Amino acid sequence: MDEKERILQLRDELHQHNYRYYVENAPVISDQEFDFLMHELQDLEARHPELFDANSPTQRVGSDLGNEFETVVHTRPMLSLGNTYNREEVADFWQRVSEGLMGAPFQICCELKFDGLSISLHYEEGRLVRAVTRGDGVQGDDVTANVRTIRSIPLQLPKGGDWPRQFEIRGEVLMPWSSFDRLNKEREEAGEPLFANPRNAASGTLKSKNSSTVAGRGLDAYLYYLLGEGIPGDGHYQNLEAARRWGFQISKNMKLVDTLEGVFQYIDYWDVERHNLPVATDGVVLKVNSLAQQKSLGMTAKSPRWAIAYKFKAEQAETTLRQVVYQVGRTGAVTPVANMDPVQLAGTQVRRATLHNADVMASLDLHVGDRVLVEKGGEIIPKIVGKSTLQAPPLRESLENDGIEKLPQKGSGEETSIHFVERCPVCGSKLVRYEGEAAHYCPNDTGCPPLILGRIEHFISRKAMNITSLGPETVDDYFSRGLIHDAADLYELREEQLADPLASDNKGVRKILSSIAESKEVPFERVLFAIGIRFVGEIAAKTLARYYGSMDKVAEASKESLMQINGIGEVIASSVVQYFANPANRTFVERLRNYGLKMELGDSQRQAQSDKLEGQSVVISGVFQHHSRDEYKALIEQHGGKNVGSISAKTSFVLAGENMGPAKLEKAQKLGIRIMSEDEFLEIIGNEGGF
Ligand code: IVH
Repeated sequence: MDEKERILQLRDELHQHNYRYYVENAPVISDQEFDFLMHELQDLEARHPELFDANSPTQRVGSDLGNEFETVVHTRPMLSLGNTYNREEVADFWQRVSEGLMGAPFQICCELKFDGLSISLHYEEGRLVRAVTRGDGVQGDDVTANVRTIRSIPLQLPKGGDWPRQFEIRGEVLMPWSSFDRLNKEREEAGEPLFANPRNAASGTLKSKNSSTVAGRGLDAYLYYLLGEGIPGDGHYQNLEAARRWGFQISKNMKLVDTLEGVFQYIDYWDVERHNLPVATDGVVLKVNSLAQQKSLGMTAKSPRWAIAYKFKAEQAETTLRQVVYQVGRTGAVTPVANMDPVQLAGTQVRRATLHNADVMASLDLHVGDRVLVEKGGEIIPKIVGKSTLQAPPLRESLENDGIEKLPQKGSGEETSIHFVERCPVCGSKLVRYEGEAAHYCPNDTGCPPLILGRIEHFISRKAMNITSLGPETVDDYFSRGLIHDAADLYELREEQLADPLASDNKGVRKILSSIAESKEVPFERVLFAIGIRFVGEIAAKTLARYYGSMDKVAEASKESLMQINGIGEVIASSVVQYFANPANRTFVERLRNYGLKMELGDSQRQAQSDKLEGQSVVISGVFQHHSRDEYKALIEQHGGKNVGSISAKTSFVLAGENMGPAKLEKAQKLGIRIMSEDEFLEIIGNEGGF
């Protein structure tokens, strides 16, 4: 067998093992054997770049290259479902279907309603060719690169299967509870904000610009709707069974029923049992099984008449509100938290619930002593959703002659009305509310302990100074012992201060100190990110570093100068100016300079600057192999060019990656504008990007 054949054979084998492991949970080889085959394939593919295949099992790990999501119009609109919340509404649906089918018998396929985000997958000749998010139902984002990393989604269907040459299958991308818990734990340790529920986590992950991030997050997918010409038969249930044979993950919990009673039994069973599933569900979906009957029932403007969702009730409990306290997060956001009498809710005892923010709190109009309804929906933290209509059990104060009980009156002074705080409960600073944000913030980021801790955690994080041997708990500990007051103090720490006199050796401490010392080599652009200028993320920091070359120049830059840079808008520009206007920040940066941190670009990065693209305006389009889009933008600027958004007669050339948008291509060709490949471009600028 030659190497090409072996590559094809390994791909087939690995696709099958992947299916057995991720869909059937029944692997037939060991993890080691799997890795062994994978390595063999990786080696062979490295020797044969001409045989590259985006659907190869080796591509499941994703890539660090920046994704760009192209908007794609759905072949068939992705409708949503009408919701029902009680038995009467479900019975109404049954009745409507029955009437719509003029009394003909019908079956309903009952399914779980998975709580993730819907996805449309397109297959041609058995290969995954496109994956698109729902978007607004008419058009969505092409997220194929990210979806390829989801192991339970087949990239290549088994050869010789009875799948149609071309079809679409829709389903839900989810983050299982186990992945969700792990992710939030990691985020907590890194001091990053937590995801409120698996749905948000799945959606944030699927829209990540970086498919290798997606690959590491453990997403999963269940498919529940097969569409297209030539799909196997008239039964929706039977079609999904066929799709299961082709390698798709189809829920084993679908059920065909032919009575309304059967529907209720399914609902009642899963209302309880769903808590034992590995993924979040928020209801049940009921679908008329026959495709011919579906067709005859048709659609309303928004949703099909042949299907409906029944939403499980979020579990609620009633208790008494005792007090509202305010938590200051590491970003400075202030969250009102209710302390309540303990109450059992969804299997745990609850005594605290979030009130989200000032607006939510005001709309609830709470008083100390109110009876409140607490709910645990998809979120992990319970919330107060309203006041109970049933008042607190009445005190039998006195019985009037007419026999009517007297209840304590509202506003009688027995209840205290609650209003959002105006000042930070930790440091007393007046809170601010930024435009467009629901939260109030403590602005005292150099003097309020939670904010200082937040800044230190950001400073040491992997993408900033990468002092990861220092965890958030250790930072808290050093801070509370008064060893550090800000991130610059880290560079003053000495072994004798940190060493535990009882420990036999202080390896851990030495590791921390050496990673602090090593961080002095971190390049300037990351130092600029690490100092924590509000709104200056990794990419903006890179852009600023490359444009100005040194901390001094960034610190002197005016808002106008900053705003001339591509990618730097008014919000970032004002924030940079504000940061350096604060003497405390300037002193902080000066101290970092004195400890030896990099305050300017290194020589190799400097050399990368030239005027080779002087006066040229360049349009970027498509998906790139070697650098991300933002990196190309920075490279264009570094070499004196200007990046512009749309093609016109003035455009000098188009820097085109793969899958350049067809409209852009046509326009460029019409205007006779040069289309330059990535490689050509890198050659012209001398490929000294320094990235
Ligand atoms: S069927 C036309 N089945 O619920 C029918 N949807 O508003 C299309 N969902 O956007 C959907 N589990 O994201 C269907 N078993 C299931 C589902 C399901 C979850 C989601 C889906 C859809 C929303 C309905």
